[in-house]
Amino acid sequence: MTDQHSGAGGKAWSGRFSEPVSDLVKRYTASVFFDRRMALQDIRGSLAHARMLARQSIIALADLAAIERGMAQIQGEIEHDEFPWNLDDEDVHLNIEKRLTALIGDAGKRLHTGRSRNDQVATDIRLWLRDMVDSIDALLRDYQLALLELAERHAATPLPGFTHLQVAQPVTFGHHLLAYVEMAKRDRARLADCRSRINRLPLGAAALAGTSFPIDRASVARELGFDGVCENSLDAVSDRDFAIEFASAASLIMLHFSRFSEELVLWLNPRIGFIDLADRFCTGSSIMPQKKNPDVPELARGKTGRVYGHLMSLLTLMKGQPLAYNKDNQEDKEPLFDTVDTVIDTLRIFVELVPGIQVKADAMASALQQGHATATDLADYLVKKGLPFRDAHEAVALAVRRAETKGCALADLPLDELRGFSALIDTDVFAVLSIEGSLAARNHIGGTAPEQVRAAIQRTRQALT
Ligand code: ARG
Repeated sequence: MTDQHSGAGGKAWSGRFSEPVSDLVKRYTASVFFDRRMALQDIRGSLAHARMLARQSIIALADLAAIERGMAQIQGEIEHDEFPWNLDDEDVHLNIEKRLTALIGDAGKRLHTGRSRNDQVATDIRLWLRDMVDSIDALLRDYQLALLELAERHAATPLPGFTHLQVAQPVTFGHHLLAYVEMAKRDRARLADCRSRINRLPLGAAALAGTSFPIDRASVARELGFDGVCENSLDAVSDRDFAIEFASAASLIMLHFSRFSEELVLWLNPRIGFIDLADRFCTGSSIMPQKKNPDVPELARGKTGRVYGHLMSLLTLMKGQPLAYNKDNQEDKEPLFDTVDTVIDTLRIFVELVPGIQVKADAMASALQQGHATATDLADYLVKKGLPFRDAHEAVALAVRRAETKGCALADLPLDELRGFSALIDTDVFAVLSIEGSLAARNHIGGTAPEQVRAAIQRTRQALT
């Protein structure tokens, strides 16, 4: 028998083929350059599979021992960057199997019994993504803690709350930050939900139909920490819903960072100047020496588009695929990997950036003087004295117009002038027109009163898992 027909130990093509694959096709179809990222998961999955095969007496205990020994060496080689990755062996799975066989001989060739690369790759991705979801969740928690800390310091710092990007009503900066804490809460809940569907074992589905060997899938699932097995072999090898769900949860995470980034960019604009960022998060211009550019939030905003793109790639990848596995599925990895990398990098940056936000409370306060931000408080005041809300709204609108004409704030209009708009107005109006009065008045759950902001911080901290 020539090498050409000796399977894993010989030429790169099998007995089925009369010539090797062309170099172009080899490069086109290979995935080892990127899927080697799942090497440790691949080894973990293979070891669990091999142990099950031995328990079920499908392979001998001596074979298992050899496989364990070989895999330990391979893992070391990978960790020390000494593994001989080879394009001829197409993907991470065949590279490792080939190496195993080179190291331990026939026992290596027995590993693939009752298994296919189709259920193998699906298992590897799930193992890998599960770890990544856990890392992202931990980072989201750190981000929440950073926001909570800054919010606590600014539970009573007044900031103009905007609608339509126009001064609307006073809020506290702490309250504003807590909005992002809420978004992160939902992001984490979505990840947890998505994780429950990631965490099912495809192994045992083999190529698509299951296997004729007496396998024990439940024990493999347990060993690998899965909550259970994928219940249909066709679905097990072809399902990538979990990757799409993850990309969708990741898109929302990025959407939230993009919104925050947009605010940071605005706040950093010298015309607004609500905050400053530590220099290490900004960059200069190559031509304009005076510039300090908010590159980090701008890039986070930009990278959001890239993650949406990956979500679209994955959705489109799956839409035309008949059951069961198709090679199209190999295209799931790069979008998924890049999504994870982008989200993790962005999170790491924000975890550091948030504590470096320097709040310029004076700029916030003076912006609040400009937009008649307590006009609603004046209307509410009149309502509490018996005026129907629509009439109160109109009376205050006229008062705002007068203040505008005079170029002053509502609270700067003298009492008798204010009384010209409604006789219900009295000296107690000035407390109502103050920023502090306006803030303190919104004293209910979800409101911006400093007392409520502190209570919300407290509640969130207690519930933080
Ligand atoms: N590299 C392949 C992938 O990423 C592994 C599965 C290959 N299966 C096959 N039947 N060609 O999907």
